[in-house]
Amino acid sequence: MAVPLTRLAYQTLQQGKSLMGLAHKEVSLRLMGALAPEGAPSTVAVPPEMLQAMQASFQRLLDVDWEEAEQGIYPASLLFDAPWLEWASRYPLVWLDLPATWNRRKQRRVDDLPTTVNRSDYPSYYLQNFHHQTDGYLSDHSASLYDLQVEILFNGTADPMRRRLLKPLVWGLRAFADRPASQLRVLDVATGTGRTLRQIRAALPQARLVGLDLSSAYLRQANRWLSQLPSELPQLVQGNGEAMPFADASMQAVTCVFLMHELPAEARQNVLNDCWRVLEPGGVLVLADSVQLADSPQFRPAMENFRRMFHEPYYRDYISDDIDARLTAAGFKAVRAESHLMTRVWTATKS
Ligand SMILES: C[S@@+](CC[C@H](N)C(=O)[O-])C[C@H]1O[C@@H](n2cnc3c(N)ncnc32)[C@H](O)[C@@H]1O
Repeated sequence: MAVPLTRLAYQTLQQGKSLMGLAHKEVSLRLMGALAPEGAPSTVAVPPEMLQAMQASFQRLLDVDWEEAEQGIYPASLLFDAPWLEWASRYPLVWLDLPATWNRRKQRRVDDLPTTVNRSDYPSYYLQNFHHQTDGYLSDHSASLYDLQVEILFNGTADPMRRRLLKPLVWGLRAFADRPASQLRVLDVATGTGRTLRQIRAALPQARLVGLDLSSAYLRQANRWLSQLPSELPQLVQGNGEAMPFADASMQAVTCVFLMHELPAEARQNVLNDCWRVLEPGGVLVLADSVQLADSPQFRPAMENFRRMFHEPYYRDYISDDIDARLTAAGFKAVRAESHLMTRVWTATKS
């Protein structure tokens, strides 16, 4: 009886998060329409077939998430892992931040960053208010709200979608089965606040983890979350994914979640090239990002609305991009991909 009860608890938790996310977006859109109509986005109509397809996809995601925990890819406790109290205490700040977001939308301002930011430290494509968020990626305030905002955006499915990289990652590392697990290095590129590293830590408790991101504020937040775990703290490094400060062939696995759609095409290719460079031959890259028009045409209206509602300057280009071809151009072999709700997961190896 224990297993069905836990599965029911997991399903209920996810349904609850989904309802909260939907309710939050509905109320905040209405408020924007009433208080800041000039900033309100014009969205495309969503056909009922798309909602049905999404609901079915949502249920499949939860089933896979549960089954892979049962298979022992990661502990079932990970399905319930979230900083609930912190999120609850930060939720009012998400609301308090909305008027500033509306103002930027009204003024069509997308370069409203802290004056303390030294712009020459960053590539120009990065110096923007992605998702219209306050300070872009460049403040502790932004880092403190990011995870919660992503949870709301994806109706509570961000972590289940991120977890889809764990199975290909664990399986890919079997290429190094003759080595002690403590000698395997796994790099998470654009780790942000470290949610993916936290999940990898649960699946690979012995591995040496490294996280890289351009934002020192997001890395500080990652450090706070990750230092709560009893295991060894991952190494957190500030740097550009296009030219990473790691030696050639120094990693056995590389992961990268939700970065590709935030890069112009050339930077996208540069990041994939550099992932290939830092991997040891036999190593695996697992990449997760938004689904695209070619693999998920039924979700076209959702992709279109995402772009209209949030400042995502490279998303339109990304959803038509050929990531398989980019991986091959970088040197990867055995490229394969599958979709999980709104996320596509590519696995590729360096031979
Ligand atoms: C949408 S967030 C994804 C964060 C995290 N992977 C997750 O799953 O939530 C994009 C992240 O990419 C980082 N980023 C953007 N461009 C980068 C680059 N060229 N090199 C390294 N990090 C970058 C940002 O600072 C931000 O933390």
